[in-house]
Amino acid sequence: MDAVDLSPTAVKWAEQRAHEAGTEIRFLRGDAFAPGLDLGRYDLVYDSGCLHHLPPHRRVSYRALLDRVLVPGGHLGLTCFAAGQDGSELPDEEFYRQGRLHGGLAYTPEALRWIFADLTEVETRPMEEQPADSPHFGVPFLLTALFHRPSP
Ligand SMILES: C[S@@+](CC[C@H](N)C(=O)[O-])C[C@H]1O[C@@H](n2cnc3c(N)ncnc32)[C@H](O)[C@@H]1O
Repeated sequence: MDAVDLSPTAVKWAEQRAHEAGTEIRFLRGDAFAPGLDLGRYDLVYDSGCLHHLPPHRRVSYRALLDRVLVPGGHLGLTCFAAGQDGSELPDEEFYRQGRLHGGLAYTPEALRWIFADLTEVETRPMEEQPADSPHFGVPFLLTALFHRPSP
C-alpha cells in the first residue's frame, strides 16, 4: 500500500499512526502529479482531502493521474468539502481573478459526477458524523464518494 503527501509533517504523522496500527505502508513525500514520483497501479485509490485544495485547472491533471494509477475494475474513494457546509462555492474563474483558493473548494455531488463522468458512481453522501470517543473519523462538513472504474 502506498500513500502520498506533499507535506513532510503530514507524512511524519501518518508514518507514526501507521506504525502504531501495525500497518505496512510505503510513504512517498512529494507532489502526487510529479512525473518522477514512484507510483504504481492500484485497485483502490483514496483521496482524503486533496481534491478540494487543488485549483480548478488541476482537475485535468487529477483525472490524468487517476487514469494512470487506477486499474480498470478499481475504485476511487474520496472526501472533500461539501457545498453548503464548508469550502468556497465561488465560480471557478473567481479563484483565478482573486488569486486565492479561499481555504478550499466546495463540491456538490453533481460536480463530482461531472468530474468523474467516465466512472460509475457507487455512492455519494455527506460523511457520517462520529462522536468524540469514536475510533473512526467523521465530520459533517465533508462529502464522501465512491466511484468504480468500469473494466473494458
Ligand atoms: C486536508 S489535508 C488532508 C491530509 C490527510 N490526507 C488527511 O486526510 O488527514 C490535504 C493534504 O493534501 C496535500 N496535498 C495538496 N496538494 C498535493 C499534491 N499536489 N500532492 C500531494 N499532496 C498534496 C497537502 O499537503 C495536505 O496534507
